[in-house]
Amino acid sequence: MGIRIETPRLILRPWSEKDIEHLTLGLNDFELAKWLAFVPHPYSTSHAEDWVSRCREISNASTRPAAYEFAVELRSERLLIGGVSLNKIDWQAGTGGGGIWIANLYQGRGYGREAFAAKIRFAFRDLGLTMLVNGYFNGNEKSWAMQRKLGYRRVAEVASRCMADGRQTIEHVTTLRRSDWDDHDGKMRSEA
Ligand SMILES: CC(C)(COP(=O)(O)OP(=O)(O)OC[C@H]1O[C@@H](n2cnc3c(N)ncnc32)[C@H](O)[C@@H]1OP(=O)(O)O)[C@@H](O)C(=O)NCCC(=O)NCCS
Repeated sequence: MGIRIETPRLILRPWSEKDIEHLTLGLNDFELAKWLAFVPHPYSTSHAEDWVSRCREISNASTRPAAYEFAVELRSERLLIGGVSLNKIDWQAGTGGGGIWIANLYQGRGYGREAFAAKIRFAFRDLGLTMLVNGYFNGNEKSWAMQRKLGYRRVAEVASRCMADGRQTIEHVTTLRRSDWDDHDGKMRSEA
């Protein structure tokens, strides 16, 4: 039994074997994978199978997990359109990291922001974390636009490497402190 989070248009839920086909379709796309650190290209069914079984192990762990990995499903069509993670959790420090992807066909409609905002709310309100660390590769203006609008700030630049094409690049490290967080979406929902 994993965590399930509902937003107006999406469901964030644990990964399942039923997602393998759409997970493979979504991530086997160089235009998407080139912005992610750990997605190989081409991305095969066996990569997707490994991912789903790894996520199952994480969500079955009895201790406080170091990560929550969510499949992002479009509520209206019950269709998998992406993934969002809250990972590298340091319970003592109150910090966590993460990532997100939304399949190409579904980008630019606010789903990324909606999923990321739900992840932030879960991390700060439900888990009590106090700071989230994220980042984006140089040139990924879409991701920066999404993060900036959610309150993230750029705090550093580090050398990084993209697994999909092996290129060396710069990663802009971003952070969001709970004290700087404005829960727009939560407010909108409670006013509705
Ligand atoms: C980054 C990503 C998750 C954003 O998801 P999305 O659903 O496309 O984004 P949204 O539609 O929620 O857009 C978020 C904001 O970015 C802005 N934005 C969208 N497309 C943009 C573009 N091409 N250029 C600049 N800004 C853009 C929008 O203005 C939007 O702001 P708004 O909510 O005020 O309208 C998605 O594009 C993606 O999966 N990209 C490939 C993988 C990736 O980059 N992951 C993040 C790694 S750090």
